[in-house]
Amino acid sequence: MLNGKRILLIIAGGIAAYKCLELIRRLKERGATVRCILTKSGAEFVTPLSVAALSEHKVYQDLFSLTDESEIGHIRLSREADLLVVAPATANILAKMAHGIADDLATTCLMATDKPVMMAPAMNGRMWSHEANQENIQRLESRGIIRIGPNTGEMAERGEAGVGRLAEPMEILVEIENFFRFANRLNGKHVLVTSGPTYEPIDPVRFIANRSSGKQGHAIARALHRMGAATTLVSGPSAEPDPFGVNVIHVETAQQMFDACKSALPADVAVCAAAVADWRIKQPAAGKIKKNAKNKPPQLVLAENPDILAQLSKPGGQRPLLVVGFAAETENVIEQARMKRERKQCDWIVANDVSEANGGAFGTDDNAVHLITADHEDSWPRSSKVSVANKLALCIADHLDAAS
Ligand code: C5P
Repeated sequence: MLNGKRILLIIAGGIAAYKCLELIRRLKERGATVRCILTKSGAEFVTPLSVAALSEHKVYQDLFSLTDESEIGHIRLSREADLLVVAPATANILAKMAHGIADDLATTCLMATDKPVMMAPAMNGRMWSHEANQENIQRLESRGIIRIGPNTGEMAERGEAGVGRLAEPMEILVEIENFFRFANRLNGKHVLVTSGPTYEPIDPVRFIANRSSGKQGHAIARALHRMGAATTLVSGPSAEPDPFGVNVIHVETAQQMFDACKSALPADVAVCAAAVADWRIKQPAAGKIKKNAKNKPPQLVLAENPDILAQLSKPGGQRPLLVVGFAAETENVIEQARMKRERKQCDWIVANDVSEANGGAFGTDDNAVHLITADHEDSWPRSSKVSVANKLALCIADHLDAAS
């Protein structure tokens, strides 16, 4: 429920603007107060009259309207909301937001606000993938602006399909509800997350690694941070951008990851999502190993890496209250994960079936997992890694509430 929540909805000029009418209805149904800003081009797609009728509020359109400014100035308008939502967020408004251009009421409010902002992009697929737009999106996300969508599918232009459809009103609504459900749940807590692969050097130019992308671990760090936790993310090499507001420690090897984790303690919760190499090269060569006709292939002698999850789970000392491990398995997933939970002495295991038959998990955007605790097992339907992260973060917050 969104009782008493105040949302400032900024409707920019895209064909999908009509979907906002539905969004306003759903937000109002759930008890939210919705004020709307309609940009000049937004008003080409939906009328101020329908937006006002559904929101039951005056629609704000003009930065220089004397009546608007005397009733409620743009600074107040942007701050008297709990959340700003830009939907549809066109390439144009996103570019302005990314570069700090404030040349109308919508963009001025976005510059003036001290409140969280969500954006639901909607544009033609080519515009979406254009480098300029992608750079803007990255820049906005790195500032903590929460992105919803876009979805893949048919475009407004006949016969065109691609990425760029506005998320459905119900999807935007779920994100808004999640935002309020998440806020402040983990205030005052410190959580430690590991993510990504590790690189184990063979010589100065070669290493052994694995296929982990870091998508799941980074999404978990992002979700926990959104719940208000002070979050430390210890990450192996990953193409994922550093999540906004999270203290990220970049490492390469398992040993470095272990050292970074130890120095991040004490923590209330540790989530070990990294795919840590079990072995390293015992003695990496100081110089590049040369190939020549007479040489046989080098023999790589391996040594065992520290098991970070098992070490963090050891009773006593600075053991976090809740330690969560991951298990990627290809067969007997639940059974294997249950055994792993006991062997490593962690509290929960998030198990995923990474067999090809199940669609894999490495580098993909979604994941099908089972949460295994001491007294129950829960299978979650396949969903995005972001939803898995959100769900896990909620379970963690519920657990800490129950334990306190
Ligand atoms: O034993 P396995 O590697 O399958 O266990 C996976 C879990 O253990 C993951 O949570 C992973 O982050 C953690 N792990 C670790 N340190 C290692 C190996 C695995 O923290 N050296």
